[in-house]
Amino acid sequence: MEVSKLSEKRTPYYLYDLELLEKTLQCIQLEAGKHANFHVHYAIKANANPLILNVVRKYGFGIDCVSGGEIERCLSAGFNGSQIVFAGVAKSDEEIKLGLKNNIFSFNVESMEELTVIDEIAEQLGVKANVCLRINPDIDAHTHANITTGRAENKFGLSKIETVDLIAKTMGLKHVTFRGLHFHIGSQILEMGDFKSLCNEINELQDKIESAGYHLEIINVGGGLGIDYVNPNTNPIPDFHAYFSTFADNLKVRDGQEVHFELGRSIVGQCGTLITKALYVKKGSVKQFVMVDAGMTDLIRPALYDAYHKIENLSVMQNVRLSDQPIGVADTDVYDVVGPICESSDIFVKNYEMPITSRGDILAIRSAGAYGEAMACTYNCRTLPKSYTLADMS
Ligand code: LLP
Repeated sequence: MEVSKLSEKRTPYYLYDLELLEKTLQCIQLEAGKHANFHVHYAIKANANPLILNVVRKYGFGIDCVSGGEIERCLSAGFNGSQIVFAGVAKSDEEIKLGLKNNIFSFNVESMEELTVIDEIAEQLGVKANVCLRINPDIDAHTHANITTGRAENKFGLSKIETVDLIAKTMGLKHVTFRGLHFHIGSQILEMGDFKSLCNEINELQDKIESAGYHLEIINVGGGLGIDYVNPNTNPIPDFHAYFSTFADNLKVRDGQEVHFELGRSIVGQCGTLITKALYVKKGSVKQFVMVDAGMTDLIRPALYDAYHKIENLSVMQNVRLSDQPIGVADTDVYDVVGPICESSDIFVKNYEMPITSRGDILAIRSAGAYGEAMACTYNCRTLPKSYTLADMS
């Protein structure tokens, strides 16, 4: 693909490689499919772009939603209610109604007060709600504090020591059906040992639950598998074999029990690139800045989580294909790559060695498919970035 094609569109914009997305989905289908009882949901919060949803839908995965807006987005993309799990941390009455009216697969319940409200609304609507209880397993997922969810001090989930009592209370309600438990320990997890710890916690809990006379039809282990932000070209598809095998080898699944997964980043992370243009190259007294037209409003991850995204100067590469290794012959310099937003934290990367960059160069901010476009905002009265596919550029 010619860089001139990329610069014909107004920058910044998201560019999606739907072929890579398909390959990633095929890999998940293959690896999860080795275990008859494994069911994968796509965590739509990672990227709700209809271009992405149309591809995901073809593979028959379920969907994990955290808001009424996400439920509506899935329904309009052609998913049906029975494919949706709804895990919002504080669901409004309207969102609960929307879920019930669409007969969603399960509500992942975050508090006993929420459970009572679901029971009341289900009664009003004359339906029964399927529920799983979200249990906080108190596990350190060794990831950034802002994306850790499974520690006891986090706002998510119900206390694991009360699980048996909570199940008993749930079983006592008339308008809900208890289906199982839900967990999610955090995001961008690369250590399979953390998922193994989750399995061990679940095994222990399941023994206690069974000795109290209850049965779990569903164990939902959430999402969290990380991607390689440093080497997206060499590792475009995460190690789904290792991931699913960890659960197959460590989770003591009972006969007929279903294991559900909610993967977001690992599905869409590598298929998205934020394309931006260098507006100016400024020499400060101690630093040199490449000032680009994308900002934290388009990709907030570096500002919010100190996240690293590889940046490539496509203009110094001949006949670029985004999945190729950059040609490593250009002279380089060291820059901070920064955006135009009036915030000191509007920095994509600091002290970054890259080919000598000039005004007008097209840069690719890689691995931006997950939590990139989905978290974009209009601060500074900016317009939201548009999106295209590689096919639009040929
Ligand atoms: N299930 C639940 C209940 C979740 O809260 C999340 C993510 C997922 C599944 C999907 O997790 P994944 O497979 O994508 O790791 N904006 C942050 C990530 C926030 C994750 C929120 N919850 C980032 O850009 O790193």
